[in-house]
Amino acid sequence: MAFIFDSFLFFFVIIKQVELLKNKFGFDDAFNYKKESNLNQTLQRFFPEGIDIYFENVGGATLEAVLQNMRLHGRIVACGMISQYNLVEPEGIRNLFQIVAKRIRMEGFVVFDYFANYYKFEEMTVQYIKGGKITYVEDIVEGLENAPSALIGLYEGRNVGKQVVVVSRE
Ligand SMILES: NC(=O)c1ccc[n+]([C@@H]2O[C@H](COP(=O)([O-])OP(=O)(O)OC[C@H]3O[C@@H](n4cnc5c(N)ncnc54)[C@H](OP(=O)(O)O)[C@@H]3O)[C@@H](O)[C@H]2O)c1
Repeated sequence: MAFIFDSFLFFFVIIKQVELLKNKFGFDDAFNYKKESNLNQTLQRFFPEGIDIYFENVGGATLEAVLQNMRLHGRIVACGMISQYNLVEPEGIRNLFQIVAKRIRMEGFVVFDYFANYYKFEEMTVQYIKGGKITYVEDIVEGLENAPSALIGLYEGRNVGKQVVVVSRE
């Protein structure tokens, strides 16, 4: 099954992170989207049989290229569209008809809907982390005064791993 998990944008990252994705996180393959001139062709190369599941966090041109490469009855979990947040005029997606032709199911996901399950999630995740089944990397900045620059960094690809702001060590 071909699976793009770009949440926490694991799939589309800078060059040294490609190795991080493959060696530390165990992805079969990865590429640097910033080095690719034609995303549609890149996806064709990486997913010659098409994509079954796409975890959407980018939007815009990336979503358009993914739709073009989805398989029949593919599924898209729409979690975020980071490429669109700072645009004055959001980009349009020109090939939405792919959803019809390929019978793609696309559904939005918002974490707040699942807060009731938080403690269950925490308990389960801690076990996975302890057992080495979940690996993670954090990018830590110290002090609330550095939070705005850390937030801007998310849109500039400055962070490597989950951006955390430590407000106090006490
Ligand atoms: N639905 C929900 O409940 C929910 C909750 C939280 C977050 N989200 C979504 O999850 C996604 C990740 O957010 P996060 O806070 O966890 O941060 P994150 O995983 O650290 O993602 C930030 C990364 O996005 C990449 N990026 C920035 N601009 C981009 C662009 N124009 N095109 C492609 N990649 C771009 C940068 O990586 P590069 O260096 O590779 O460019 C940056 O390191 C966002 O889409 C966010 O909206 C959804």
